[in-house]
Amino acid sequence: MNVLVTGGAGYIGAHVVRVLAQHGHTPIILDDLRSASYERIGDFQHEHVALEDTSKVMAVFQKYQPEAIVHLAGSISVRESVQTPEKYWANNLGAGMSLLLACARFPVRIFLFSSSAAVYGNAVETPIRENAILEPTSPYGSSKLAFEHTLHRSAQALGMCSIALRYFNAAGAHTAWGVGEQHDSEEHLIPKVIRALLTAQPVQVYGNDYPTPDGTCIRDYIHVVDLAEAHVLTLENEYLGNQHNFNVGTGEGYSVLEIISAIATRLSVTPQITFLSRRPGDPPRLIADPSALLSHVGWKPVHSSLQEIVNSAVEWELVRC
Ligand SMILES: NC(=O)c1ccc[n+]([C@@H]2O[C@H](COP(=O)([O-])OP(=O)(O)OC[C@H]3O[C@@H](n4cnc5c(N)ncnc54)[C@H](O)[C@@H]3O)[C@@H](O)[C@H]2O)c1
Repeated sequence: MNVLVTGGAGYIGAHVVRVLAQHGHTPIILDDLRSASYERIGDFQHEHVALEDTSKVMAVFQKYQPEAIVHLAGSISVRESVQTPEKYWANNLGAGMSLLLACARFPVRIFLFSSSAAVYGNAVETPIRENAILEPTSPYGSSKLAFEHTLHRSAQALGMCSIALRYFNAAGAHTAWGVGEQHDSEEHLIPKVIRALLTAQPVQVYGNDYPTPDGTCIRDYIHVVDLAEAHVLTLENEYLGNQHNFNVGTGEGYSVLEIISAIATRLSVTPQITFLSRRPGDPPRLIADPSALLSHVGWKPVHSSLQEIVNSAVEWELVRC
């Protein structure tokens, strides 16, 4: 099927595009490369279009008549969203409207949206189920939740299937495909720790007084290839109901110190750790209950052991430059 992948030149999108192609689908990348480079596009079809430009988005729909949309394009930094919330509302909610307007003119069977565990805010219970209280603690999380609501309402009116995939922490890489994590200003733990340890810099840890066994935050890390597979299996399932929110995580959590230790072991180095104060809005523990995606779609992570994530991320850091 023709699948329009917004943000398909980004970290996760590049993996989604390749897994789609592996399954025999035709991905079309819509990305204006504001936070990605041409190299990630490879030989795939690409439209250099900003989502804000509704008439160009319409033209892309007219040209390819996609059966499915995977909407990954967005602004992704929780920290930046606190400083410039308007950028997050404009891109993560406003720009996405072009897609919904286009879906009204050119019918699409299914629309997958890249949402985030950030919609849960300070989750009280873990593992987190999809029906947990939704109280985002950042404009990033609020903008994701607002698009979820808007998408589901529009999809209902249009008779389109809408799925919000709430990613936990995407990590790892597929080095053989030449794709891995590379954000403009990297804020994600695993690449930051690898880069610090490879250059003999201290690793900064925000807060060691959380109510967790070692005092550092616990997160659920999902290998980016497993995450990409979740998209493709969801698209291929024709028996899903019209609307779902699915967690995409493993159900296992690792603390910041456990991650640092796994990377240090892989690199055979002794880490120097600097403890800083907590960052505002960092919940102590975010672990998914992924059972809904398993029961509806039959998806299970197979590459997401901590060792495979760390090994692939290290391999990628060593070759990416
Ligand atoms: N990385 C994670 O761990 C994580 C976790 C939860 C949710 N997500 C969500 O997954 C999605 C992809 O994340 P990523 O890590 O691959 O980010 P990324 O920054 O690597 O990719 C985003 C891509 O979207 C493009 N883009 C952004 N705004 C655009 C616009 N208005 N028009 C056209 N292109 C635009 C960028 O050029 C980039 O290629 C995002 O929506 C993010 O919020 C990511």
